[in-house]
Amino acid sequence: MSKYFNQGWFGRHPIMYDFAGFFISPIRKFAAKKMGLEKLKIIDIATGTGAHAYQLAKQKHNVIGIDLDKKMLEKASKKIIPDLKLKFNYADGTNTNFPDSEFDAATISFAMHDIPYDIGIKILNEAKRIVKNTGFIFIVDYNNLSGIGSKILHFFARLYESPNYEPFVRDNLSSYLKNAGLEIEDKSTFLGAVQFVKVRSM
Ligand SMILES: C[S@@+](CC[C@H](N)C(=O)[O-])C[C@H]1O[C@@H](n2cnc3c(N)ncnc32)[C@H](O)[C@@H]1O
Repeated sequence: MSKYFNQGWFGRHPIMYDFAGFFISPIRKFAAKKMGLEKLKIIDIATGTGAHAYQLAKQKHNVIGIDLDKKMLEKASKKIIPDLKLKFNYADGTNTNFPDSEFDAATISFAMHDIPYDIGIKILNEAKRIVKNTGFIFIVDYNNLSGIGSKILHFFARLYESPNYEPFVRDNLSSYLKNAGLEIEDKSTFLGAVQFVKVRSM
């Protein structure tokens, strides 16, 4: 129980997952484009059903998605098509077993809010280890509750999200990044509700 904390919520609510996925799809496309034009080797940590990894691979990046939920990975594997450099592995984001500096970038999409704080920190530290010094970590998640967009989304999200969601949006990544020795290089939002944060080692 020290490494898996999603407890399969979305696995147990596939209709909700698909429903949310419909609205999130344009956000994922936008996020994938924000990775830049250079073709990168990317690890998508806590990939779930691989929707984010899939959008990255469509931008011609070389992508591996990892997750601890085999049911999620089964769904993810259906997104593998011959033209894409895309694969999925069963692995723990806190201890991936990849060598140091294996990737140009790591992405963590809509997962940090779902994972307890201490595990989130371990995932960020592991991401730092397996990403090159010149690389970056890209986090897509709920924004803090400062604007009208985030407050509207919060009205709904608090009804279905895990107990980690509320402390996450109140912290707004700041103590996560401080604890993991990361700093923000760039931040943008979608209607103030979803944040796209590019971070690097301090
Ligand atoms: C809300 S889902 C997000 C999925 C996906 N990234 C997306 O954008 O839709 C969170 C995922 O985190 C995974 N997870 C939780 N703890 C993990 C860990 N220690 N290592 C890898 N995956 C983990 C869960 O199995 C779940 O699939």
